[in-house]
Amino acid sequence: MERENVLVSGADLARQRDFEEKIKTMFAARQAHPVACVDTFGCQQNVADGQKLMGMLEACGFTFTEDPKEADLVILNTCAVREHAEQRVFGNLGILTHTKRENPEQVVALCGCMAQEERVAKRVKESYRHVDLVFGPHALWKFPELLWQVYDSRRRVFAVDDEHGTIAEGIPVVREKGVKAWVSIMYGCNNFCSYCIVPYVRGRERSRDPEAVLAEVRELVAAGYKDITLLGQNVNSYGNDLEIGYDFADLLAEIDRIPGEYWIRFMSSHPKDATKKLFDTMARCGHVARQLHLPFQSGNDRVLREMNRRYTRSQYLELVNYAKEKMPGLVLTSDVIIGFPGETEAEAMDTVSLVEEVGFDALFTFIYSPRPGTKAAAMPDPATRAEKQKWFDKLLEVQNRMSAALHAAYIGRTVRVLVDGESDDPDYPLSSRTEGNRLVRLKGDKALIGQFAQVRVTASNTWALYAEAV
Ligand code: SAM
Ligand code: SF4
Ligand code: F3S
Repeated sequence: MERENVLVSGADLARQRDFEEKIKTMFAARQAHPVACVDTFGCQQNVADGQKLMGMLEACGFTFTEDPKEADLVILNTCAVREHAEQRVFGNLGILTHTKRENPEQVVALCGCMAQEERVAKRVKESYRHVDLVFGPHALWKFPELLWQVYDSRRRVFAVDDEHGTIAEGIPVVREKGVKAWVSIMYGCNNFCSYCIVPYVRGRERSRDPEAVLAEVRELVAAGYKDITLLGQNVNSYGNDLEIGYDFADLLAEIDRIPGEYWIRFMSSHPKDATKKLFDTMARCGHVARQLHLPFQSGNDRVLREMNRRYTRSQYLELVNYAKEKMPGLVLTSDVIIGFPGETEAEAMDTVSLVEEVGFDALFTFIYSPRPGTKAAAMPDPATRAEKQKWFDKLLEVQNRMSAALHAAYIGRTVRVLVDGESDDPDYPLSSRTEGNRLVRLKGDKALIGQFAQVRVTASNTWALYAEAV
């Protein structure tokens, strides 16, 4: 793809800001105070997109509510990665028929990854007639224009064309209050893991210009954000499409030179392009958190091949061992799929043994969910749900034991945490995170919120550490 076709032009972006003004003026003329409810599902990329939706809505004059009954506009920002996620959205869409019956002026919109799936857009068009606007991730930057069309024509609008995707800079953002912020450094995915829908709905890989990323991180640090996560489906291929001989490790090193008190982290990293250079850079850079999310998906080479992951168990182990050696105390997490089509019990147990061998601090574990249109969805899948559940339970049992043991090893140690808010536990009223992103429930003064602090760990369980400020 030519770079000029990837970047949305300044004129096209300026037009969207004009549509925001038009909508704002329309509401002002009616002396209306519009309220929106944005409900985001799925991964951090989607959360970051949700913050852009809110930014554009704020520019249109909206304030926000979490209750769809109170809202003039309800947006479901959806995820397509597993069937369960889709079912929840269809359930929520069903509920919105009632809110719309009570408030016929309410506008209902569906966006995000599900909206980009042809069969979903078709089903919504035919069977969910109360949905006024449907647009996929490719059309996110045009949201003000699409919303204007809905208000202006009072007709249903569908913007779900399949395309490679673009990059739109300068969209307004409403960030979460506090210390955490998300920065997308690239969009899309080229990897086509055989089980995964993401490349079909998010288009091809495209990297933001390093200067745009650096400027955003500088702004965030200046605004007081202290825990910044760089996002991409595979940050390790950042820069490939820029063709300027600049890679993700180069970007990390440059970000690290921004002065200030903050941590920088990233997700996700694909093992097939994780490099020793990246781990050396992480080890050298003081702001880069010693935490690595490196999804391995399966510990069996045949299954990895069928998944189209393009690394082997031993290559994965070599990478992890190198990273641990370079960064003592590194906190490691991963994603795992159990029950890929054709997986046997012995192959699933290879995944369990890899987990035992590596010693992950935490895992995100999933039972395989067929996604229509992907290669794996057409593969024979003889194992029953009950068998897969048994393998899955075994994996959880092993992981929970390992998480508990790794957490217990913190007891008595003094660690640095970032206090990010209040908790719901009256005995430990504060919530905080270690550099490795482990949850620490904390005894201490509320004045600590938003600050780094030294704390002494006094107890732990599978999911959290408990500590006192020192
Ligand atoms: N790009 C990231 C990577 O490759 O590490 C992953 C992004 S994906 C949104 C998050 C996780 O969902 C994957 O790592 C995988 O474990 C899981 N996942 C994706 N497709 C799935 C499927 N069809 N069934 C079950 N889990 C799935
Ligand atoms: Fe999906 Fe694989 Fe791309 Fe991750 S790298 S988003 S699992 S296709
Ligand atoms: Fe994320 Fe779900 Fe889309 S995991 S990229 S929101 S399919």
